[in-house]
Amino acid sequence: MEGNVRVLRKVPVSCIRAGMILPDDLYSRDGKALLIRAGETVTEELITKLNKMGTKDNFVMTYETSWRVISGEGAMSAEQRQQRAEDEAGYTALKEAVQNLLTRISETAENSFQETEVVASAVISKISSAELGELLRCIDTPREMDEGLQRHSLNVALLNGMMAHWMHFSGIDVSRIVVGGLLHDVGKTRIPVEILMAARGLTAKEREVIKQHPVYSYDIVHKGFDSAICDVVRHHHEKLNGTGYPDGLTGDEISLFARITAIADVYDAMVSARSYKASRLPFDILDQMVQGEFKGLDQHLTAVFVRNMKHVFKRSEVLMVDGSVGVVAYIPPNDISHPIVVTEKGPRQTDERWYCSEVADMLH
Ligand SMILES: [Fe+2]
Repeated sequence: MEGNVRVLRKVPVSCIRAGMILPDDLYSRDGKALLIRAGETVTEELITKLNKMGTKDNFVMTYETSWRVISGEGAMSAEQRQQRAEDEAGYTALKEAVQNLLTRISETAENSFQETEVVASAVISKISSAELGELLRCIDTPREMDEGLQRHSLNVALLNGMMAHWMHFSGIDVSRIVVGGLLHDVGKTRIPVEILMAARGLTAKEREVIKQHPVYSYDIVHKGFDSAICDVVRHHHEKLNGTGYPDGLTGDEISLFARITAIADVYDAMVSARSYKASRLPFDILDQMVQGEFKGLDQHLTAVFVRNMKHVFKRSEVLMVDGSVGVVAYIPPNDISHPIVVTEKGPRQTDERWYCSEVADMLH
């Protein structure tokens, strides 16, 4: 289906600089109002005008050629683009707050309840104010294993909060499950770094040491936090089939919050591993989750998670392996790893040779 399909792409106003000459027209977020004509030089006055439009997150729309100029593609490395996206989404500031919190909690949990509530509130308000696609762009970035606990802890808290939102939890329960996500791995601060960061296969004995981290997390938080939160930190590695740790719980012995946290934990670990290639993209992870490849997860909750994540990823921008940019138009329920992507050439289903190399929503 070749043709002159022109896809409008979203760009943040903050990425538009005075002096840019854009090869395509620039439109309002709904694509209806022409804001800057193709070939017109962007001035400070025009940028001020765009900023004053006051849309929720201040995006405008343009076509691919201008999108590439604005995104600075080629001028910035993928890491620089990622950093910038994280800064602008407010993710970097949250990550720093989580780092400070984990340091404090690992020293003394008893007096840290209020500080934790402040960080949890910031996470919850980020979920309700930001576009979830923008947050997933931050969550899904591949990263070095040794980046530290703060990113994983924040990601699990964000994913827990999204699930709580999708499942219409009450305010107090949203807060509990987000705090559980923030603190679930704090016990890793007690695992020797040479084991935690080992760039090699671990010995059986070392694996047993790692498996103690939920117990350490529980030890750290149990005097300062309520029982639902303590339960999440202790039981986020339990599996319904009884093969999890540290207590080998089965079925109904595992709480709803711990089951949700297990899903968030697996998703974040799988999607963000630095060694990922195409098969590690979110679509593939979600597909594997649906297929039940991660044993012991609650399949009903997994289905809720996957259904809502698919909804968020629909209309995401993706970079294709051939360098083209597309928008996810449809994710087949029985073939999640092969979404239909619309590029300038029209809609096409991804396959082994033509696949998404990056989910690039808000790429800039
Ligand atoms: Fe863990």
